Amino acid sequence: MLTSPATSESAFLRACHGLPVPHTPVWFMRQAGRSLPEYRAIRAGVGMLESCRRPELVTEITLQPVRRHGVDAAILFSDIVVPVAAAGVDLDIVAGTGPVVTEPVRTEKDLERLRPLVAGDVDFVAESVRLLTAELGGTPLIGFAGAPFTLASYLVEGGPSRSHVLTKALMHGDPELWHALCERLVQITGEFLRVQVAAGVSAVQLFDSWAGALSEADYRTFVLPHSQAVLSSLASAGVPRIHFGVGAGHLLPAMASAGVEVVGVDWRTPLDVAARLVGPDQAVQGNLDPCLLFAPWPVIEAEVRRVLAEGTSASGHVFNLGHGVMPDTDPEVLTRVVALAHELTA
Ligand code: CP3
Repeated sequence: MLTSPATSESAFLRACHGLPVPHTPVWFMRQAGRSLPEYRAIRAGVGMLESCRRPELVTEITLQPVRRHGVDAAILFSDIVVPVAAAGVDLDIVAGTGPVVTEPVRTEKDLERLRPLVAGDVDFVAESVRLLTAELGGTPLIGFAGAPFTLASYLVEGGPSRSHVLTKALMHGDPELWHALCERLVQITGEFLRVQVAAGVSAVQLFDSWAGALSEADYRTFVLPHSQAVLSSLASAGVPRIHFGVGAGHLLPAMASAGVEVVGVDWRTPLDVAARLVGPDQAVQGNLDPCLLFAPWPVIEAEVRRVLAEGTSASGHVFNLGHGVMPDTDPEVLTRVVALAHELTA
């Protein structure tokens, strides 16, 4: 609704809607971050959560990869736990580890620490989006949030977990408490996204990064209704919605059914296979393995060609990695990947 005419005509938004594109659009999850020396310099001495709360800093960090790599979209510099912290949960983002919650949420009483998010709690996000849209011209800005399951896992486990054992035990052992926790997260995540849309983002991505740890049956019973609730609250916003999980090939039809225009795919599922699993009108996003950016250039070039060729099976393709840029990635390789993908599809 606030999207400018130049932005609506961008390759990124056209691909999200399955329209013909001048070239395949490219952006990278975690494109702003430790792979960039200019990011490490500007972040020196400022904590991760603190940096997310400073609009001028957020603006500069978000713009860094756009300037350097010529990507087709910017993604707001923030984190999935920012709205949870703004809603009253005491947590920190520890470098090299991830989000750590001081007192995990495991009982009904603990839910009281998760109050509803109101727009005023995240004024700094709205301000960052306004500053960014003014700077970005025709380049779209992607807003994002964590999906209820991935956020719940951090809250229940108290930090990152490989197995999600306490989360799975809670969802099966006390479904009522599980659903009550997710309903609170639906409100928080939904409001966080609505603030970003009202301030001017052109698309939103819902990250359910750890959903791949679930069976399809558990995903459909305990998770999908909540992600659907978040996404349907944005149906009238007029911005494309992207839904992404890692190791979630077995969940692609379910994740595609949550009410989204674009389905994010990791490197384990070829995009032509993914395109058959999602709806005929849905675009796909992905899916170069971020580890392969450490291989010699001819390997990377062949992989970019393969991903682009497989992406032609879908109604639209947004080129991305299969997960975030790893911190030690050579940023010059990322710039070359953008140029190559553009050149091969122009
Ligand atoms: O993609 C982007 O460029 C936008 C910024 C972004 C960040 N986090 C910045 C960040 C986005 C979209 C996220 C989302 C996020 N955060 C997810 C979903 C995406 C995914 O990776 O699956 C998850 C699971 C988190 C939780 C989280 N926050 C983790 C696992 C970490 C990494 C911990 C570490 O240090 O290795 C963070 C911290 C974080 N978020 C960093 C960045 C740039 C690194 C912090 C730093 O630079 O010190």
